[in-house]
Amino acid sequence: MKKKVLIAAIAAIFIGTYACKKEKDAVYNPTALTVEVPAFVKKYVGAMPSPPDNQLTAEGVALGRMLFYEKLLSNNRTISCASCHEQKNAFDDRRPFSKGTNGAEGNRNAMAIINAAWDKQFFWDGRRASLEGQAHDPVTNPIEMANNWTEVVSRLQSNMLYPTLFFKAFGTKTIDSNLAMKAIAQFERTLVSFDSRFDKYYHLGDTTVFTAQEKSGFNIFTGKGMCNNCHLMNTLLTDHEFKNNGLDAAPADAGLMKFTGIASDRGKFKVPTLRNIAMTAPYMHDSRFTTLEQVVNFYSTGIQQSSPNIDEHMPAFGNGLNLTSQEQSDLVVFLKTFTDQAFLKDPDFSDPH
Ligand code: HEC
Ligand code: HEC
Repeated sequence: MKKKVLIAAIAAIFIGTYACKKEKDAVYNPTALTVEVPAFVKKYVGAMPSPPDNQLTAEGVALGRMLFYEKLLSNNRTISCASCHEQKNAFDDRRPFSKGTNGAEGNRNAMAIINAAWDKQFFWDGRRASLEGQAHDPVTNPIEMANNWTEVVSRLQSNMLYPTLFFKAFGTKTIDSNLAMKAIAQFERTLVSFDSRFDKYYHLGDTTVFTAQEKSGFNIFTGKGMCNNCHLMNTLLTDHEFKNNGLDAAPADAGLMKFTGIASDRGKFKVPTLRNIAMTAPYMHDSRFTTLEQVVNFYSTGIQQSSPNIDEHMPAFGNGLNLTSQEQSDLVVFLKTFTDQAFLKDPDFSDPH
């Protein structure tokens, strides 16, 4: 269903481009779009939330997809959102620190964009409260796109394609930055991933899809590892909260406190989803771990109990879970079952340019 609407929208773009005469008479008649999710998702976390002032339409999503892959957004036209959020990496960046247009690097790992429609706070420190608001920042961030929205709007306005695409999506050929951010957010909401082997095993009850080792890893994740205290089994594999999992006795990055200014938030970071985790290395907000083995080893022996504001679930572990090497490799093997090949290759999410 979703695919059909999108194909219709893409066809409309081509017809729109080549049949300029007809364009004058174009009518604003967007097609409402619902992203279908499996019943188990609806059961645990409900249908996809969609803000009343930015309901998904096929035309809005098609425009957002163009903008997500649009290098005009960056000052020297060299990078798009997708340069740091690549589909094959579950919309994450494999580099420890992404490079902006001027070659500058930040000090935080980029974040995967997966099932973000259900999320309410964005960035490692939660400083943005909507996908629309988030989409503003990379354009102006000096270490990312190093541009300004006035310039972006004027580039889009004088482009052959965009005025028509904005008209189809929002009923106006006069482009403004808020409409661009709305369209990008619409596209991001369509990036849903619920089709991993884990889903077949756990949510659809097909116990044949797991090997004995994967089952053992699952039992550690939900049992003695208590990973699901924070990376919830409610289909999203995150509780969307900000917590300190005990990485450092003295955190170099204040995390949530940077945004709230509250001392009890020091060292807390967004609990990331574990969906497609095998595709999103390196790990943690500062990319300190390059492999899942290292992550599991940290939870096994590296927890810093003196870390400020450490989460209440962590003290139960002492310096870690003290997993045997067999248990550690079982857990790693299980984490790889969160990979959703259909998501990584979905043609609806690829570069439309
Ligand atoms: C130069 C690399 C780079 C570019 C370009 C970039 N991002 Fe990001 N993105 C990051 C990094 C790094 C973070 C985490 C930063 C932080 O937490 O301080 C991030 C975080 C995000 C998040 C938050 C995810 C979450 O779960 O909280 C979203 C959404 C996002 N980016 C979307 C976009 C969009 C949309 C664009 C284009 C308008 C874009 N990004 C361009 C590197 C980049
Ligand atoms: C108290 C809550 C909590 C528990 C329990 C927990 N985690 Fe985490 N996890 C987090 C937080 C918070 C982060 C991000 C920390 C950061 O970057 O500063 C994280 C990060 C991760 C990452 C890296 C994700 C990324 O995108 O970089 C992996 C993998 C992970 N956890 C796996 C596990 C496993 C496996 C377990 C069980 C052994 C577990 N977690 C238990 C809160 C938790």
